[in-house]
Amino acid sequence: MDQDILLMTPGPVQLDPEILMAGAQPLKHHRTNDFAPLYTECVNMLKKFFKTNQRLLLTTSSGTGVMETAIVNHFHQGETILSVETGAFGERFSEIAKAFRLNVVQLKYPWGYRAKVEDIDAEFKKHPDIKGVTVTFNETSTGVKNDLAAIGEYLKNKNVLFITDGVSGIGALPFEMDAWHIDVAISASQKGFLAPPGVGMIALSEKAVDKLNKVDCPAYYFNLKHYIKNQDLPIPSYPWTPAISVMFSLHAALKRIEKIGIEKLFSHYGNLAAALKESLKALNLSIFTQPDALSEVLTVINTPAGIHPKSIVNEIHDNYNVLLAGGQGHLADKVFRIATIGMIGEREMIATIGLLELALTKLGYLKEIGAGTTALLKAISKQTS
Ligand SMILES: Cc1ncc(COP(=O)(O)O)c(C=O)c1O
Repeated sequence: MDQDILLMTPGPVQLDPEILMAGAQPLKHHRTNDFAPLYTECVNMLKKFFKTNQRLLLTTSSGTGVMETAIVNHFHQGETILSVETGAFGERFSEIAKAFRLNVVQLKYPWGYRAKVEDIDAEFKKHPDIKGVTVTFNETSTGVKNDLAAIGEYLKNKNVLFITDGVSGIGALPFEMDAWHIDVAISASQKGFLAPPGVGMIALSEKAVDKLNKVDCPAYYFNLKHYIKNQDLPIPSYPWTPAISVMFSLHAALKRIEKIGIEKLFSHYGNLAAALKESLKALNLSIFTQPDALSEVLTVINTPAGIHPKSIVNEIHDNYNVLLAGGQGHLADKVFRIATIGMIGEREMIATIGLLELALTKLGYLKEIGAGTTALLKAISKQTS
């Protein structure tokens, strides 16, 4: 049967049809007062998710474009940054910075481990010329959640910019840009914000704005000076034509999240992740990520010996229209990933674990079916009683 695919992936995530339909409204012209409230309300609502009272700008791009925006606007060619790599997206920040001729000190962790302040401190002792530090908030390739509060506390009195990639984390996990002393926080519409891809977000501390005013930005489209100037016009807008339809959906999604209550949504995701972990335990499936680094956004699962992650993902996708994520980078043939964010709930988790059990039975790993689903149901029942 030709059906929609249920996305149990960490972005894009499963969306509500009403949010998607919001994108089908007639367009509003971005140089008019018809559009200005949509733009301003999105910015103001997003500040509540970033927990910042400082400047927040919208761009047109996916997360990678906003990572690039953060780099090109804040550093002079040849300046040194410390790139903290806890997975594929940390590595991406290094690649972007190298592409723009920065001197990149790479602090590499084995995948699955989170960053530690003492290691960052050791790098500062070796490289006193560091002018910026990039850290991934929620590392989507490894399921690691980094402790940004501790890193921000360490960096707060240093003459550096603290930059974080919040692409899969902000909107899905508690995040405190101002309280954690973050200077540049980036994200995108298609994960925690429950909207289609296309709108990028970048929030800036005063220190970050001061620095960008001194940097001769080697980009045009992503030069934030244009964005700041246009945000401050009597009719605030983007410098160029925005993804107006995606903004309609983003606006509707932010309103929806506000109505649900952001804290309630965080605890919903936490419950889904906890119940999922119970079912994995019952299936004797181990989690790839170190126990002190676990994120509630997604769970990274070691594939049983002799089975390729693709066989599990394809079996469930091709037969049942549910999509799990495979592994990234050198984990491509070792792990698969299940997201616990998006417009999903108990129904989707029960279906996912039931189908996982069917697939693992077919692939010869499970001799008896039902233990995972039973453990999941028991965990859900405890949470809801
Ligand atoms: C943590 C993180 N950073 C950056 C990106 C890149 O975002 P995009 O694919 O939207 O360019 C992703 C996407 O999966 C991500 O999870």
